[in-house]
Amino acid sequence: MDNEITIEPISSITTSLWTFRVLTAAVKLNVFNVVEQIQDVKKISDELKLELDPLERLLNTLVAMELLEKKANLYFNKPISSKFLVKSSNAYYGDFILMNEESDNSTKALDEVIKTGLPDTGDNRKELARVGFTRAMHNNAQAPARVLSKLIDFNDKNHLLDIGGGSGAFSIILTNKFENLKATVIEQPAVCITTLEYVKREGNLDKIETLEGDYFKVEFPSHDIALFGQILHSNSVEQNNLLLKKVYEKLEENGLVIITEFLLNEDKTGPLFPTLFSLNMLKQTKGGRSYTFSEIKTWLENIGFKNIEKQHLVGPHTVIIAHK
Ligand SMILES: C[S@@+](CC[C@H](N)C(=O)[O-])C[C@H]1O[C@@H](n2cnc3c(N)ncnc32)[C@H](O)[C@@H]1O
Repeated sequence: MDNEITIEPISSITTSLWTFRVLTAAVKLNVFNVVEQIQDVKKISDELKLELDPLERLLNTLVAMELLEKKANLYFNKPISSKFLVKSSNAYYGDFILMNEESDNSTKALDEVIKTGLPDTGDNRKELARVGFTRAMHNNAQAPARVLSKLIDFNDKNHLLDIGGGSGAFSIILTNKFENLKATVIEQPAVCITTLEYVKREGNLDKIETLEGDYFKVEFPSHDIALFGQILHSNSVEQNNLLLKKVYEKLEENGLVIITEFLLNEDKTGPLFPTLFSLNMLKQTKGGRSYTFSEIKTWLENIGFKNIEKQHLVGPHTVIIAHK
């Protein structure tokens, strides 16, 4: 019986750290951008100013990882790499990958956090608040925001309150699509600089404004859609109840609250991503964690929200929609 037990699942988890390092190295070294244009390894090495042998080892590993293809000694990006790992693509995901590496390098080891039960509130938090984090969140929000814009018709809505809106990714995609919709992004002052850069580049400054401040403290303007895009997992139950009540008070009749989250299943044993993410929140916040649909639904019901439903968006992103 014991002979049937193999090391494979554990070794594949262990190796995933290596494959992640290979991916981050390739993103940092600009490999996918160059391979999009140049296929010959000698020319790639000239362009990247890298020695041939280490570069070839890297490229061959990326082939094994199914991110590149090798034909007649030439290297090509697989379609998935052209779409997500080439900077000029509007689905670019590289900043998100680099943010993960950065945060892992600069946080306490998870075993320390579990032993002490204390979050890492040192320099790492300052790092995360910086531009790199906001860019990473921008990458991360593209796919769910696009799916959301197709899932719900916001044509009868006028004012979106994007609480902790980061780069403004959701506000940009939704106001670009729905003519009557304007948005206010509530964000920390340091982040608002980056938000406005994204709005100038991808959106419309006449339709999106920033409201600088702490979302626990600033007065919310009246609105008919409130959006919490990956916000609740950073906060405790008490803090989330406070925020949802604050929204309810300023939400117009028939208004909506929209929550995107990495939801746990009801016994909190999966899916894998929200379970990993909950550990991540243990490292990075003072009360945050992944929540289940039932938990969030109960808070919303107790406050007075009605018709509460959830829908899968994309990957680990789920949306919860509730009505006033
Ligand atoms: C995980 S990001 C989500 C960004 C965006 N909503 C999205 O879906 O991509 C959380 C954002 O909340 C902001 N944030 C965290 N605490 C905040 C606070 N107390 N007041 C205002 N913004 C805050 C952070 O700066 C960050 O941009």
